[in-house]
Amino acid sequence: MNIALAVLLASLFTLNTANTTAVLENRDGRWRLPYYGARLANAADVTASEGGATRWHGDTRHLAYAAFGQPLVSMDVDKFGGLAVKHADGTITTELIAVGEKPVEIAEKGARHIVLKHRDKVYPFFVDQHFRAYDDCDVIETWLEIRHEEPGAAELSRMDSFALDLPRIARDYRLLTLSSWWGSEAKLSEATLARSQTITVNSRNGVRGAWDANPAFMLQLDGSAGEETGRVLGGALGWGGAWKMSFKRDWGDVVQICAGADNGAGAYRLDAGKTLRTPDFLFVWSERGRGGVSRAFHRWARNHRLPHGRALRDVLLNSWEGSYLTFKEQTLVDMMDGVKELGGEMFVVDDGWFGEGEFARDHDVNGDPAKGLEGGKCDAGLGDWQVNRRKLPRGLEYLIAEAKARGLKFGLWYEPEMANTLSRLCSAHPDWVMREPTRELKCGRGGTQCVLDLANPAVVDNLFDQLHAVWKTPGLDYIKWDANANIFNQGSPYLGRDRQANCWFDYTVGLYTLLDRLVKAHPATVIQACSSGGGRMDYGFLKYADEFWVSDDTDARERVFMQWGASHFYPASAQACHVTASPNHQTHRATPLKFRFDVAMAGRLGFELHPKDMTKDEIAFAKRCVADYKRLRPVVQQGDLYRLVSPYNDSSYAALMYVSSDREKAVVFLWGLNRGPNKDFPALVRLAGLDAARRYRITELNRLPGAAAHLRAEGKTLGGDALMNFGLEPMLANGDYDSCMLELKSIADQSE
Ligand code: GLA
Repeated sequence: MNIALAVLLASLFTLNTANTTAVLENRDGRWRLPYYGARLANAADVTASEGGATRWHGDTRHLAYAAFGQPLVSMDVDKFGGLAVKHADGTITTELIAVGEKPVEIAEKGARHIVLKHRDKVYPFFVDQHFRAYDDCDVIETWLEIRHEEPGAAELSRMDSFALDLPRIARDYRLLTLSSWWGSEAKLSEATLARSQTITVNSRNGVRGAWDANPAFMLQLDGSAGEETGRVLGGALGWGGAWKMSFKRDWGDVVQICAGADNGAGAYRLDAGKTLRTPDFLFVWSERGRGGVSRAFHRWARNHRLPHGRALRDVLLNSWEGSYLTFKEQTLVDMMDGVKELGGEMFVVDDGWFGEGEFARDHDVNGDPAKGLEGGKCDAGLGDWQVNRRKLPRGLEYLIAEAKARGLKFGLWYEPEMANTLSRLCSAHPDWVMREPTRELKCGRGGTQCVLDLANPAVVDNLFDQLHAVWKTPGLDYIKWDANANIFNQGSPYLGRDRQANCWFDYTVGLYTLLDRLVKAHPATVIQACSSGGGRMDYGFLKYADEFWVSDDTDARERVFMQWGASHFYPASAQACHVTASPNHQTHRATPLKFRFDVAMAGRLGFELHPKDMTKDEIAFAKRCVADYKRLRPVVQQGDLYRLVSPYNDSSYAALMYVSSDREKAVVFLWGLNRGPNKDFPALVRLAGLDAARRYRITELNRLPGAAAHLRAEGKTLGGDALMNFGLEPMLANGDYDSCMLELKSIADQSE
């Protein structure tokens, strides 16, 4: 029987997915979550046996949601809960009691939704806790709706989406997160969570919420969790504003995880009658190590989160590194010719196409074009989303027509949330800029860039109108949505003086409101989340965008590490990976074109260069790579990921693979990094995820003309069992950046 939300007893429920069970129980008038893990047939077995060794933590431990002030044992209360409220009368504790539950009908097949209803024992303060479980990927999504009917505003100094005391499930906990900053996004970071320690991971950037750290984690249990083995709890917050996650392991090995929007700027004032919806928090349980968590998140993203998650992503050329701000009309048309010849499908105009008259976003002719923004000027135009006719006299219509004439889709760059003080928008509406009235305005890029006050609905309306006016141009298919600032000035001219601390949260609510309206008005438009590179690698923005720009650091060697890190939570289809010129503009490192392709083809392939700078041989090679990528992108973009050899831990090479869901096809990538002579041979790379009973033909792709194959198995047909148990033995040259890419195809004739 596959009744995922089954009522076992009046007070005991299970929330099941294909492989997991969460037990929810109303005990003594409180909602508890005494078990979350591998799927169980009988939830009552848990409640029948638990509660022995945990008695010192009190029976009310393992609450489904822990609030500050909740009684724990007779003489103590929870001082760490995820919700901390100063009620209208000044009381600072909250005691949540269960007041029912409500299954919610939802249209999505294979998903179930239940709301646990809580209220304060004394105050008219209500918390609806939503859980939505997805069978196909084992992900559970949760969030709160908080409201009250108290006589004045309530102050929320914590309002986490998730605040759970995990049952005492292990004796060893290791936390994996991603460390991030400009040019160095999504780098793996791991630490042991020791007894009586708390680890907090957060970002208070306010805009680039995946900087400092990424809002996602894996908690590995029992020290045994590996790529494909062991128990791992994964979590991710769907929020790109300021956020915080904390992991507290107490004296008795109970781990409390709290995750939600960060209130570091002060308590959020919530008026009576208003409902605050917290960010979504996603969690997943894997008995198959880190790989199991990653594949679950990827499937959830493709099937349930990304707007067009099941569609194949186009191969595109983005103009940024090829021309920076210096382009003219003809530069862009030449680039279109180039990407067409390479076999690409879309052309995207980056920064520099907008702003009129004195506020036109022009390249400063005194600057050095090769230095991009450092050498050029970018101090005007943001906020005025009309075409810069000096650069583009025939407007976007002309460019779109040129793209369409070549059979290309067309995309455009925006940075909607920011404005330059040198803009019509700022001149007309100085009060639309986030700022504190008594302090000097601090500005970002170009010395004039400021953040618009998206807490103000009038600003959201203006941006919607400006963007909608351009987005409805026929033939505009794709938007690169950039955001190159943080909240420099902690104040909103719109919000009252008594609720300035709401500005962090309300900014992000305003942003998502704007995106929601735009996406509804333009359902076919594909959006890329960019934020000075990977600053928006998060499931908040990825509700509206299909992909993110991994990093402004486009050096293929650096990308091996960043793409590896990002793959822990985000699918390959969402990782924009572009082949750029060598030496690389950020690191000045030279790498072979083949290596650059072999790395970029592991995500959503694109280009960021001027094709006119490529030689004939390079173009011929690139054309083959693009054609093969297009043939194999269903496997890379929609397949299951298996990480084989990590580039971290001083490894001299890295390897990963994707397998189609029917296990007919696979693509393997192997990248050499710092390989010294006669050491650390990439011997016996054991593949994963194949069908042991099938045989697969192996073909090396992206081979340079005349180059020997990287492995003896080239062209041979081998059994999935041997490939997974014995492995492949590729030969990577000594030194740096030798690489290989393999295609595996299941052969129907088993005798081959
Ligand atoms: C940011 C982005 C780049 C590019 C520039 C344009 O840095 O990450 O890709 O779009 O802005 O100004």
